[in-house]
Amino acid sequence: MTEEFIPKKSYRNTPTGEVSYESPSNIALIKYWGKYGEQLPKNTSLSFTLNNCKTTTRLQYTPIKPETKVGSFHFEVFLDKERKPTFEPKIAQFLTRIEPYLPFVRDYKFVIHTSNSFPHSSGIASSASGMSALALCLLKIEQDMLPGRSQEDFLKKASFIARLGSGSACRSIAGPLVSWGKHDALPGSSAYYGTLYTGAVNAVFSTFQDTILLVDTGKKEVSSSVGHNLMNDHTYAENRFKQADTHINQLLDILRTGDLDAFMALVEQEALTLHAMMMTSRPYFILMKENTLSIINKIWIYRKNTCVPVCFTLDAGANVHVLYPEKYKEKVLKFIKNELAMHCQDGKYICDHTGYGAKSITK
Ligand code: PMV
Repeated sequence: MTEEFIPKKSYRNTPTGEVSYESPSNIALIKYWGKYGEQLPKNTSLSFTLNNCKTTTRLQYTPIKPETKVGSFHFEVFLDKERKPTFEPKIAQFLTRIEPYLPFVRDYKFVIHTSNSFPHSSGIASSASGMSALALCLLKIEQDMLPGRSQEDFLKKASFIARLGSGSACRSIAGPLVSWGKHDALPGSSAYYGTLYTGAVNAVFSTFQDTILLVDTGKKEVSSSVGHNLMNDHTYAENRFKQADTHINQLLDILRTGDLDAFMALVEQEALTLHAMMMTSRPYFILMKENTLSIINKIWIYRKNTCVPVCFTLDAGANVHVLYPEKYKEKVLKFIKNELAMHCQDGKYICDHTGYGAKSITK
């Protein structure tokens, strides 16, 4: 399965150069939680690609002398022009994982300049947008060395490589709806890369809004790797994976029919199930904060009183993603400003909506 991503021809020599990509974050409707092997998901997930929360990465590459090709990789990472040695172990691990598929990474020194459209201390994980942007930059370099590949194959390999950096990153290359994990109801789906969902989708979902309420802007309490590993011997794991597969079938029906009540019930159940898994693992964690619960309760009351179809989802943290159709944007933003912002750190939230994936911005 992974064979197809190993280059069959030798690379054409490429001198010093620079490539640049911007790539968005994504928010899972059906959550990926639990992995095996080399970053393979224990269940299928499906996400909305976002538009405004994104990482921009500029990658400079310079050939290195043959005698320096042994040992560790040669690279430096900068976030907003500031050198970030703390990012280096993760990038080194990523380069080690991808070397069999992009062997040229051994032959170059890389300078990685990255910046996020959202504040770094927002509690929004930049791993999906960051790893997908970096994967695309590397793929673009490979494309120049091995021309002739189709755009479809280019994007497939970019997603495959992004996954090796951070699982959910493989769903950020395309949009607005991307699945990851093999599922009978998703033709062409794979555990190795994300696949753009091309089935029937009601128009309401093509412009869906996601306002991200920044409840806890600190560093993640539990890294996703630790979290995924907690599913290895989790009492409820097998049922959870089965449930996620059933939820995919239900979500596909909902996407087709545009049944917003069913959408809200499913998406909230998924979010709470993810947190329930964390609360019932050993060791256990509560990642929601008091403000997370206050927000959830207020959303439920508002929905009941106004019949506005607004719901929430959560990542593995305390921030709340408020999801709603574009048609209700003005009303929901007023509700957020008047009633929910007070539960956010410094009253902060980020307005986003579905998007179409990463873009090359190489000059
Ligand atoms: O990509 P990772 O390893 O950071 O895992 C992300 C997991 C969740 O965000 C909680 C769910 C998902 O599917 O994105």
